[in-house]
Amino acid sequence: MSGPLLLAVESSCDETGIALVEDGRRIHADVVASQVALHAPTGGIVPEVAARAHLRWIVPALDEALATAGVTVRDVDAGAVTCGPGLAGSLLVGINFAKALAWAHDKPLVGVNHLEGHVYAGWLLDPGEEEREEPVFPLVGLVVSGGHTFLVEMPDHLTYRLLGTTVDDAAGEAFDKVGRLLGLGYPGGPAISAAAERATARDRVFPRAWMRDTCDLSFSGLKTAARRIIGEARADAGLPADEREGPLPDAVGAELAWGFQDAVVDVLATKTLRAAEETNARGIVLGGGVASNEALRARISAGAAARGIAMTIPRPGLCTDNGAMIGAAGARRYAAGERAGLDLDARPTMPLARPLARPAVP
Ligand code: KG4
Ligand code: ZN
Repeated sequence: MSGPLLLAVESSCDETGIALVEDGRRIHADVVASQVALHAPTGGIVPEVAARAHLRWIVPALDEALATAGVTVRDVDAGAVTCGPGLAGSLLVGINFAKALAWAHDKPLVGVNHLEGHVYAGWLLDPGEEEREEPVFPLVGLVVSGGHTFLVEMPDHLTYRLLGTTVDDAAGEAFDKVGRLLGLGYPGGPAISAAAERATARDRVFPRAWMRDTCDLSFSGLKTAARRIIGEARADAGLPADEREGPLPDAVGAELAWGFQDAVVDVLATKTLRAAEETNARGIVLGGGVASNEALRARISAGAAARGIAMTIPRPGLCTDNGAMIGAAGARRYAAGERAGLDLDARPTMPLARPLARPAVP
C-alpha cells in the first residue's frame, strides 16, 4: 500500500455504495447495490422506500466489498461517509453505519460532501488500470446529476468557487421527466441516450436557455417545451394525450429524444468550455450521472482537446453514485487532518461552494 486504505460509505440517494480505496486513487472494491428496479414502478424515488432498502443492503454490500478486496475492517486506516446533501433518511443509514463501524473498530472517520465526491471520481483508478495523469489544477468541474447541476472552479484540492448553478431543475431531472413523457421508463437518462442513438432524422431543435451568457443554467423551460412538442407529436400520430396510453412510434420518439438531448448537451458543453476559458483552467472534470451520457462526453472532450485543456471523465459507473468517489474525496480530507466525531449528522442541503462575490452594479 502506498497510502491509507479508506472504507467509504455512500447512501445519499438510491444507491448503497461501499468501497475500499487506497490513497484516494486506487479502487480495491466498489460495490453498488442499485435501487433502480425498486423505484421504476413509481417512476421516481420514494424516500422511505429508499432508506429501508439502504438498511437491507448495507451489510451485504460491506461483506462483498471486504471479500473482493481481500481485507478485513482491521486492515482499514479510516472510514469516509457521505453526510450531505441528499435524502435525510437515506443519509442517516450510511452515517450511523459508518459511525458504528468506526467506533467498534476504533478507526478515524471523515464526513464527505456527496458533490465533492462526484468531482473526485476523476482521480479514481480501477483495480488493474494503468497509472495516468491526475486532473490538473486550476480546473473547472461540471457536476450534472439527478439532483444537482452546477459549474465550479477548483484552484487546488478541496477549494471550490461556485461559477454557476441551475436556477430550477437539475439536468438529470429533465432527462427523467422527458423520458417519462416519451414513455421510455425510469431512469430517463440512459433510455433517452439509447433512443437518440437510433434517430435517423437529427434536425429537431428544442429551445436552449442561455441565461444571459452567465454560468447559470435552467432546464424547466426546456421541460415545458418538450411536453408541448411531445403532445403535438402524439396528436399528429392519433394517440391519446396521456403517455401511459402507449408510446409514440419508435422513429418519432427517437427523433424527439435526439432533439431534447442535443439541447441539454449544447448548453452544458458550451457553458463548461466557456467557463474553462474564462478562468484559464488547465483541466476540466465531469461528474454525476448525466456525465455518463455519451453525446455530452464526446462534445466536451472534443472542445477541450481543441483548446489544449486536459479532460477527465470517469467511466459511466463512476459518474453515477458510488462509494469509491467518497473514498477519493475522503482521503484528501483525511490527509488534511479532518476527523468527524460521533456527533456527525446528516446535512440534507449541505452546499459545496459559495459563489464568487458579484461586482457591485455601478
Ligand atoms: O449522480 P446520480 O447517479 O444520482 C444523483 O446524485 O442524482 O445521477 C442520476 C441521474 C438520473 O437523472 C439519470 O437519468 C441520469 O443521471 N443519467 C443519465 C445517463 N445515465 C444516468 N442522463 C443522461 N444520459 C445518460 N447516459
Ligand atoms: Zn450523485
